[in-house]
Amino acid sequence: MSYPYQIKSLDAYQKAWKQSVEQPETYWGEVASHFLWRKKWDKTLEWNFKEPNVKWFAGGKLNITENCVDRHLETLGDKPAFIFEPNNPEDRVRVVTYNRLHKRICQVAQMLKNHGVKKGDRVCIYMGMVPELVYAVLGCARIGAIHSVIFGGFSAQSIADRLEDAQAEFIITQDGAYRGEKVIPLKSVIDDALIGNKTVKKVIVYTRTRTPVSMLKGRDLWWEDEMDHAESQVEKNNIVSFPAEEMDAEDPLFILYTSGSTGKPKGVVHTCGGYMVWTGYTFVNVFQYNPGDIHFCTADIGWITGHSYIVYGPLAAGATSIIFEGVPTWPDAGRFWEIVDKYKVNILYTAPTAIRSLMGFGLKPLEGKDLSSLKVLGTVGEPINEEAWHWYDEHIGKKKCPIVDTWWQTETGGILISNLAGVTPAKPAHATLPLPGVQPILVDENGKEVEGNPAAGNLCMKAPWPGILRTTWGDHERCRKTYFSTYENLYFTGDGALRDEEGNYRITGRVDDVLNVSGHRIGTAEVENAINMHADVVESAVVGYPHDIKGQGIYAYVVCQNLHGDESLTRQNILQTVSRIIGPIAKPDKIQFVNGLPKTRSGKIMRRILRKIAEGETQNFGDTSTLLDPNVVNEIAGGKM
Ligand code: WT7
Repeated sequence: MSYPYQIKSLDAYQKAWKQSVEQPETYWGEVASHFLWRKKWDKTLEWNFKEPNVKWFAGGKLNITENCVDRHLETLGDKPAFIFEPNNPEDRVRVVTYNRLHKRICQVAQMLKNHGVKKGDRVCIYMGMVPELVYAVLGCARIGAIHSVIFGGFSAQSIADRLEDAQAEFIITQDGAYRGEKVIPLKSVIDDALIGNKTVKKVIVYTRTRTPVSMLKGRDLWWEDEMDHAESQVEKNNIVSFPAEEMDAEDPLFILYTSGSTGKPKGVVHTCGGYMVWTGYTFVNVFQYNPGDIHFCTADIGWITGHSYIVYGPLAAGATSIIFEGVPTWPDAGRFWEIVDKYKVNILYTAPTAIRSLMGFGLKPLEGKDLSSLKVLGTVGEPINEEAWHWYDEHIGKKKCPIVDTWWQTETGGILISNLAGVTPAKPAHATLPLPGVQPILVDENGKEVEGNPAAGNLCMKAPWPGILRTTWGDHERCRKTYFSTYENLYFTGDGALRDEEGNYRITGRVDDVLNVSGHRIGTAEVENAINMHADVVESAVVGYPHDIKGQGIYAYVVCQNLHGDESLTRQNILQTVSRIIGPIAKPDKIQFVNGLPKTRSGKIMRRILRKIAEGETQNFGDTSTLLDPNVVNEIAGGKM
């Protein structure tokens, strides 16, 4: 496999960027021509950010699984697509070759077909980090069903909301998932999510942990039985085949739910053609992947990072990736380094929160681990502080590995701002320069462009790249409002950024009411709604505060009706409630009981003040004259936990 669109010098980057912006159709038409199309597209790009309406490669026909798997069989059939490292290092390692992956995908596709799943139907996937999760995802893509993967840390209620929103008819899950010492009972969570559900017809259950599960007659099926049956259908005389559905470039590929500043999570929709080109292109350019390299992205496939840089991007490039089932600190904090050593990993892509947490264990876990195979390090999910950056550079990369600080979002499909490993310069704590096709712009509060360097402002994009979201599922108006209405004719990212003299971007974090907790995106409104569901709570306000390891922690101010004299129990009850409604990842780190919230006369909560108090400030709250009752502020500041 070669990548004619791989950029190998600073000069080539500059030329590519310029061309991609001045002649996007020529540039992306050329890149896309190196992928496999059943029929070439009619029009490379058509767009406006008003509606918004973005179409890349319209009229082009393809199936992304043919690009990710079939296309490689002749040359890479016996090469590993995945190496599965189980939660328990003593358990069996599994190597999944491209041939094996192809067969499994065909089986899943056949299995889905056997149960009447068709192109465009929504299939929800709730699994742990096992190869079967990848088979499930790609099996859907093979028949054109739209997958919606839900991260294993979400609660039954969250799943129920997503099933309802997507009107999903089919679920693929597993009995339980291993995570360090814990077993997460996934099927039982699904059972709870299905109480009252009217759309789901079938649930397929993969066996991993032998956790007892309830299997409902007529609804629940075992993965193993169904896959065995499908095997006899797709394999004849040792030849495996299942014809891939022909998809239009703009047919939806998947839905992935993500949090915003208001309301329930929305289903971000990505389509087949543009997403494929964008993930394939960014993967080989940012990480400078070369055939044969071993790539280890530590994200969960339940998030966009796993979709784009464990599944689609690497497979489009014919890469070999690690699928790691466990957690970085079990059996001990040397687990990542052990994996790097064991498989001679060349590219390691992880999150600042993981780096900070592992830093806390000192250098002992690194002893005896050979990390010399590493060539490229990457980070994603939140701003990386300089201390963590230098630790990563010194102790993991031994100052020999370029670090790519990759900024992007669920909505962007793939990386937008990052240095290209060893090709364009890195700068600690800076995502640096936009990729070809990416046109960032900083604007002030009024939407006026902040020109020149250095600069600071809200980060927007002037034009579409192939991987941009196309809509939010079932509610296009919400997509327009959320991303395209704040500033006219711009895509608004929700992030603030600085730009230095050389044009390098440094992302400073969200400027909306969205928190980033250990790289997980959580809406403050969502957490407030969950807290308010607790019987004793009158109202609440949630803000983020700086947290050494998580990046941001969740701070909740809660007004209760009646504390029953037991604050500690109420606190725990609230945590339980949030866990039930959203999932354990949204549990507040701190809860402060207060008698009232600082509200303006028009009833708006002044979060600015609450943020200051959460950060430890006890005075200097600025202008509080519009507050209904300015005394509330002193009371809250005085009672800070
Ligand atoms: C938000 C998107 C993209 C995959 C993981 C998160 C923050 C992401 C960086 C980075 C600073 C970053 C932004 C963004 N973010 N990468 N390299 N530097 N901030 O995806 O859950 O959609 O969250 O993560 O605030 O808006 P997501």
